[in-house]
Amino acid sequence: MSNISEQIAQLRQQIEAHNYAYYVLDNPRISDAQYDLLYRQLVELEQQHPSLIIPSSPTQRVGAKVASGFQEVRHAVPMLSLDNAFSDEELADFNQRIEQRIEQPIQSSLDERGLAYAAEPKMDGLAVNLRYEQGVLVQAATRGDGEVGEDVTHNVRTIRSIPLKLQGDGWPDILEVRGEVFMSKPVFHKINQAQREKGDKPFVNPRNAAAGTLRQLDPSITAQRPLSFFCYGWGQVSDEFSIPADYSEMLVYLKRWGLPTNSLAKVVFGQPGLVDYYQDLSARRDQLDYEIDGIVYKLDNLEAQAQLGFTSKFPRWAIARKFPAQEVWTKLVAIDIQVGRTGALTPVARLEPVFVGGVMVSNATLHNLDEIQRKDVRIGDTVIVRRAGDVIPEVVGAVVSQRPADTQLFEMPTHCPECGSDVVKETDKAVYSCSGGLFCPAQRKRALAHFVSRKAMDIQGLGEKLIDQLVSADLVKHPDDFYALNVDELLNLERMAIKSAQKLVAAIEASKQTTLPRFIYSLGIPEVGEVTAKQLAKHFTSLEAIQQASIEQLIAVPDVGEIVAQHLIQFFAQPHNIEVIEGLLNAGMHWPDIEPQAVVIDSMFAGKICVLTGSLQQMTREQAKAELEQLGAKVSGSISAKTDFLIAGDKAGSKLTKAQAIGITVLTEAEFIEILGEQAHG
Ligand code: IVH
Repeated sequence: MSNISEQIAQLRQQIEAHNYAYYVLDNPRISDAQYDLLYRQLVELEQQHPSLIIPSSPTQRVGAKVASGFQEVRHAVPMLSLDNAFSDEELADFNQRIEQRIEQPIQSSLDERGLAYAAEPKMDGLAVNLRYEQGVLVQAATRGDGEVGEDVTHNVRTIRSIPLKLQGDGWPDILEVRGEVFMSKPVFHKINQAQREKGDKPFVNPRNAAAGTLRQLDPSITAQRPLSFFCYGWGQVSDEFSIPADYSEMLVYLKRWGLPTNSLAKVVFGQPGLVDYYQDLSARRDQLDYEIDGIVYKLDNLEAQAQLGFTSKFPRWAIARKFPAQEVWTKLVAIDIQVGRTGALTPVARLEPVFVGGVMVSNATLHNLDEIQRKDVRIGDTVIVRRAGDVIPEVVGAVVSQRPADTQLFEMPTHCPECGSDVVKETDKAVYSCSGGLFCPAQRKRALAHFVSRKAMDIQGLGEKLIDQLVSADLVKHPDDFYALNVDELLNLERMAIKSAQKLVAAIEASKQTTLPRFIYSLGIPEVGEVTAKQLAKHFTSLEAIQQASIEQLIAVPDVGEIVAQHLIQFFAQPHNIEVIEGLLNAGMHWPDIEPQAVVIDSMFAGKICVLTGSLQQMTREQAKAELEQLGAKVSGSISAKTDFLIAGDKAGSKLTKAQAIGITVLTEAEFIEILGEQAHG
């Protein structure tokens, strides 16, 4: 038996040492698989010898549910809060106050550079007190009101970085360690993703997620949402232990006993040291794995701390220099709809202006209807607005406790607020779009740019800037307006010379001679790219036939699926779009007739074996395959010596390597499309 208990003790010690290396030192010594093996061995031995199980065994982190809420815990030493500084001046005042109050001389505080301060990030989480008796974690409690907190031992035990048993020796019989429980950003994002997938409300920030997790009655749920911990202080410490002279030294002890401390903690000197540290961390804030809301400075010398003592609320020897808030509360006045360049409707929050993340914000994105419903945000609510780094401000949630009785639920409009066209919901997507297409002013500029682009009407000299000018001058609203432009009108535009005006008018005129596929493509119907436009033209051979086609007829076209067919029907159902098409035809736009179902026989792909690989950007695999087959190629799934062409999209992998190795002609997507274009014209 003693052999077994020795074996168990040894395994426990090994596992704890690896936990320490992993969570505290951030320097794992063995692989996860090796760790799992040790852990399983311990579990098996304990199962065979249940009498040897002790609460501090690493296998005992997840215990039973607590039956009825949380027990109150009165703190042996009160848990205080910190005074705040919001500017460099307030920080300078803090330093000056201490310099004046401190009684000379306290050696370790004196340095030619000024007083020594321990500086560390202010973690955005929850303060807890961990009580170790004889080196064993016996109780964990939240701060509560500073005097009385809640017993969260069952949950804190699941936090892997918190030792259930202190390491090494020399620790006091009673040791209370204080620090912050928090959730890292990656864990937060993963958990919110899971919440969304379940259709549950996402947490508004990592702090709330950590708080919710720490207040679980069932520790098995807490264990699934990994929390982290850094310590930054202590409460009761039994007398036989003599605390070192400086706070920073005490942190070294704590770390040696297996407790995680923040590796960014540093001793700095004097007012310049305080400010430098703040600036350094502000710049790195967004790159950190966890959220911080400021810097905490503590006078390093503990005797000097004792001399300064406390005000009624705070220690005089410490201060929190707060970063500008990245999250603030304000009122959601209205939700407007913004029509994006692709016609997508985005709800935009109109807010009572607030200062957040260093700027004044009065609008914030709400993403989409699904997100609004999931977050349960209502017009009239007090909402939490977040602006971190350069990210655009967003509404992360509502403050439900402050909800007035007269809030209003948001509804998506059924008609586009810009142009009145029907709003359609993309199947399977949370996106609502305006079906107005060319008619909608918000989509107009983009549509006009698309219309003149190389693969559409290919009008040289009509860049985005010029389009902006033409639209602003009210010369062009819809594509057919291009064809009414004359040299005199163009000359009124800024920086337009007679030569370029004449050239432009000529280019516009020349574009009237086009092809049906180009014409269809130029209309900018959602999901109708170059390849689909060609298929449609080939299949129906006339514009009228396409306009009149039913869903079923459209789906019969190779590679036109339900979604594309719906877009086509919607587009041609809008009277405005028909007006524009008629305007273009009246302007003289024309194209040669299409031979019904002309199969190109003398294509370079005729009789060839082709393979497609990688992801294509401008067409689907199926479209590419259909095109190739139309040109007489055989499309195969794998590379062999018989393969003639490999068409390689983005991130092509082993097929590309193999093709190159055996000398097969490789075409990029751009080259492939270019050849398709030539074959169609020729
Ligand atoms: S020291 C008497 N250090 O900030 C000093 N607090 O505003 C007690 N906090 O309740 C706190 N990071 O929850 C200290 N490095 C840090 C901290 C920190 C976060 C929190 C803690 C405290 C609050 C005070």
